[in-house]
Amino acid sequence: RGTPALRVTERSDIVRWWPKLGPASEKYTRGVVGVATGSATYPGAAVLSVGGALAGPTGMVRYAGGARDEVLREHPSVIATGRVADAGRVQAWVCGSGLGTGEDAAAELRAVLAAPVPAVLDADALTLLVDGSLAENLRKRDAPTVVTPHDREFTRLCGEEPGADRVGATLRLAAWMNAVVLLKGDRTVIGTPDGRAYVNPTGTPVLATGGTGDVLAGLLGSLLAGGLPAERAAAAAAYLHGLAGREAARSGPVIAPDVAAALRPVIARLG
Ligand code: APR
Ligand code: MG
Repeated sequence: RGTPALRVTERSDIVRWWPKLGPASEKYTRGVVGVATGSATYPGAAVLSVGGALAGPTGMVRYAGGARDEVLREHPSVIATGRVADAGRVQAWVCGSGLGTGEDAAAELRAVLAAPVPAVLDADALTLLVDGSLAENLRKRDAPTVVTPHDREFTRLCGEEPGADRVGATLRLAAWMNAVVLLKGDRTVIGTPDGRAYVNPTGTPVLATGGTGDVLAGLLGSLLAGGLPAERAAAAAAYLHGLAGREAARSGPVIAPDVAAALRPVIARLG
């Protein structure tokens, strides 16, 4: 067992990885991100994850779920439908936040797992994965997947707490799930199934407020749809999310919509 390849994400990484616009850019070639989050019970999760997705580099966001009215009121540039199966072509899916954990939610997650495109699984999708059959669908997937647990979600998925060696824990779950794992925290860790890891240096405790995780998942999905490899998309999303938390905090106490709104100026300043 060698020392894992571990690196701290740097600003220059994000600049290098960011998809470039050119005269031939077109909304479909920039990537379309599908967002399957939220529900009639939790419309806010949909609004926040779509907000994160809209801040990313893709040309279009499609929303599929039970919070269409709320999403369209807040984000009129989105194309909305009720189900993943009706959403049309997307280049990456975001699934989970506020989705619920019943039969309907499981069917939507199953549809996302069956899609041959990269996916981000967060929140309720992680709870649903504790059911072995869906986890098996994930392990058999060819397209890249990123799972984004906080510590309690990690513990449910893994059967044990991350413990002090957070890089080791992240890499074990990544290998076991055949997915890139983004383990949230003060210093968020990103690990790949083949044993590489990134640590995020921009975290800030102002992000410890409900809904910021949903914003992160949406942004990450946009980076995947924009063509970044899964571990770069995850490292870049965590980095920019931290900067956005800091930026939002300059104007007062932070709530999750502020983090989504701060992503755009933070990204604009990347150069
Ligand atoms: N320092 C730095 N970053 C932090 C800190 C901290 N002390 N605390 C939290 N964060 C960051 C995490 O890294 C992550 O990016 O804030 C974000 C929080 O995301 P989640 O834990 O997913 O929280 P969120 O989903 O937004 O809201 C609470 O969690 O348990 C569920 O169901 C519950 O819906 C609720 C949700
Ligand atoms: Mg969350």
